[in-house]
Amino acid sequence: MQVISSAKELRQHLASAAQGISLAFVPTMGNLHAGHISLVEQAKQQAQFVVVSIFVNPLQFGANEDLSSYPRTLDEDIAKLRLAGVDVVFTPTESEIYPVLQTVTIELPEIANTLCGAIRPGHFRGVATVVLKLFNLVFFGHAPRKIALFGKKDFQQLFIIRQLAQQLNIPIEILAGETMRETDGLAMSSRNAYLKPAQRQEAQRLYRALQQVVQAVQTGRTDFATIETQTGQYLTQLGWIVDYISLRSAASLAPATADDQQLIVLGAARQGRTRLIDNIEFGK
Ligand code: PAF
Repeated sequence: MQVISSAKELRQHLASAAQGISLAFVPTMGNLHAGHISLVEQAKQQAQFVVVSIFVNPLQFGANEDLSSYPRTLDEDIAKLRLAGVDVVFTPTESEIYPVLQTVTIELPEIANTLCGAIRPGHFRGVATVVLKLFNLVFFGHAPRKIALFGKKDFQQLFIIRQLAQQLNIPIEILAGETMRETDGLAMSSRNAYLKPAQRQEAQRLYRALQQVVQAVQTGRTDFATIETQTGQYLTQLGWIVDYISLRSAASLAPATADDQQLIVLGAARQGRTRLIDNIEFGK
């Protein structure tokens, strides 16, 4: 496994080592958990050559967010990726990705300003920009198949990246990995490391609350706004700060209607300063 931090070196290496063979890419911000490793395993099943990037992207963090405290565990991450059989780990510096201060960014449709985008203005612009830059650094030669993998826990991110690839005619298949969960149901996330013991115990309730929403809809309720409000109030009473609980069409991410057959309930809520997100896709 090669660990490469310069974009030039990455290109040179891929031009010889990955020329003409299928290539899968897993972009990450590091602090890798079983969810990331399952994306890597999926990548290995799909392609002959696997690249993982580790880059904590400043452009997707708001001014008062956790950029400086985001867990950085590069040595452990590299050891995990070596064990998982990755071919190249790309660990660029900030100046490698953003060589100039006034960077070009991607303008996204309105969907990027809803849900997490409403709470974190500019977040998805930062995500889309770095993902496109990384795609251009990793996928430049001829490969019979070009694949990039993203986790379903960040469902809105996955949705926006699919739109990005489709609408900007990027010839890369976007594949999704299932959310990995702790034994009590909490979705795995690098940010779970911030939780104090009592918060960690409470954290599984977000998933449980979303499961109750699914149950309510599957038993025939169509008063979606009421279900969302009641679930939010329930979590608030238990000490959560709720950003949103939202029922949407799984295909378009538009607010769910009684006619939608494939739905998704998404939730974002905070335990103290730790913001957790989760979602469940389901059919009626
Ligand atoms: O999901 C993440 O870890 C990040 O948003 C991504 C896709 C690596 C872009 O920085």
